[in-house]
Amino acid sequence: MSGNRFPKGFLWGGATAANQLEGAYREGGKGLNVPDVLPGGKIRHQLISDPHFDLEIKEEVYTYPNQEGIDFYHRYKGDIALFAEMGFKVYRMSIAWSRIFPNGDEETPNEEGLAFYDRVFDELHQYGIEPVVTISHYEMPLHLVKAYGGWRNRELIALFERYAKVVFTRYKSKVKYWITFNEINSGLVMPIYGLGFMVEKEEDKYQATFQAFHHQFVASALAVKACHEIIPGSKVGNMILYVPTYSYDANPENVLFALEEERLLNYFCGDVQVRGEYPSFIKRYFKEHHIQLDIEKGDLEIIREGTVDFIGFSYYMSRTEKKDKSSEQVSEGNIVGGVKNPFLARSDWGWEIDPIGLRISLNQLYDRYQKPLFIVENGFGAYDKVEKDGSIQDDYRIDYIRSHIQAMGEAIEDGVDLMGYTTWGCIDLVSNSTGEMSKRYGFIYVDKHDDGSGTLERKRKKSFFWYKDVIATNGEKL
Ligand code: BG6
Repeated sequence: MSGNRFPKGFLWGGATAANQLEGAYREGGKGLNVPDVLPGGKIRHQLISDPHFDLEIKEEVYTYPNQEGIDFYHRYKGDIALFAEMGFKVYRMSIAWSRIFPNGDEETPNEEGLAFYDRVFDELHQYGIEPVVTISHYEMPLHLVKAYGGWRNRELIALFERYAKVVFTRYKSKVKYWITFNEINSGLVMPIYGLGFMVEKEEDKYQATFQAFHHQFVASALAVKACHEIIPGSKVGNMILYVPTYSYDANPENVLFALEEERLLNYFCGDVQVRGEYPSFIKRYFKEHHIQLDIEKGDLEIIREGTVDFIGFSYYMSRTEKKDKSSEQVSEGNIVGGVKNPFLARSDWGWEIDPIGLRISLNQLYDRYQKPLFIVENGFGAYDKVEKDGSIQDDYRIDYIRSHIQAMGEAIEDGVDLMGYTTWGCIDLVSNSTGEMSKRYGFIYVDKHDDGSGTLERKRKKSFFWYKDVIATNGEKL
């Protein structure tokens, strides 16, 4: 494929989140956040769906891998040097809210936390790497969950706005790309991460979830406005978990079902944040689910005025839907459900591998919004093996990323305005859904294992050298 498909200045890089790699969960004045108290292992997924799971540390029963992460807090210089060696133009990372406001509701920020990110940004700039910073990536201060009930509570808007203004003011000369909430729509499937509460009863689910979204929309819009005022020329994006949804077959019942599922998951949040108003289709959904939003005077105006500059999204897989799933094999790995797609292979975690789905997603998003798109997460979680000579031959990861970059090139030729691409977990880190270390995404191997053992030593995988060439040739050499 020809490299000129990718525009000059295309933002190649990698992505991580504070809670999955920093560790040092009690250092530098940091308060506890949600992932600090989430157990490791496949059991995590089951526990976070249990409304009675209490968010307490029980070391005798569970392990807590996010507490140490991969110790980026102490090793960031070496890690950033490796990112620079690969030629990263950008590095997507997040700020841990509880490093800046340990409980989330203090009047003044924690200077040690602010100083840590100053050091990280300075280190990145030393290599000419531009940070892309997510303000909230599944790492809400635990106190806001316990004492406030998470985003159900309107008070969170003012607390988030204070936090956002503090980081914009502090880093105004160092960060120009910002993202408000990571995978905001994931609150529909994993509320504890993004919305900060467990759904207690099925009948409360709809009201609580959509009221919490409303609070986040207002908070996100206030942050966009503040960022533009405090940092002229800054670019603020939203971030959606995007999963293109196919109908299982040509049965119109299934086509309609897939459309409805897709609108809810993929478009509802984005429509509000990109267009600045609630989409028309949601009215019927609210009515049918007895949802009555408490919208205060001025909220809709704030939402209208605080639309995003670009659309950030994660893409890992597609989803295939059928109205009556009883006779089909459910696709268990896909975090958003669906049935198995017979045309697609799966990762060891059951995530369906679908590069054409990325081209479809890019076209769908651009057709709908006509705003710059930024793929801020994409990657392949796999078991890696360290060979006797110390090398890691991760050809499966190269194949996955290559095919997705090819799909991006096609979409650019289709006319899509794509700003950049940051692969997820550019360095091995703790998995979000399972808390495992063995679900590895990185170009850089980290010697840490599910039981917590390991030296934390870093090693370059085969994909490290491959991605370095991709960036050096602006996507020409794949
Ligand atoms: C996205 C999240 O859902 O997917 C990341 O934004 C996460 O935090 C990534 O790590 C991959 O998911 P997992 O569960 O394999 O870590």
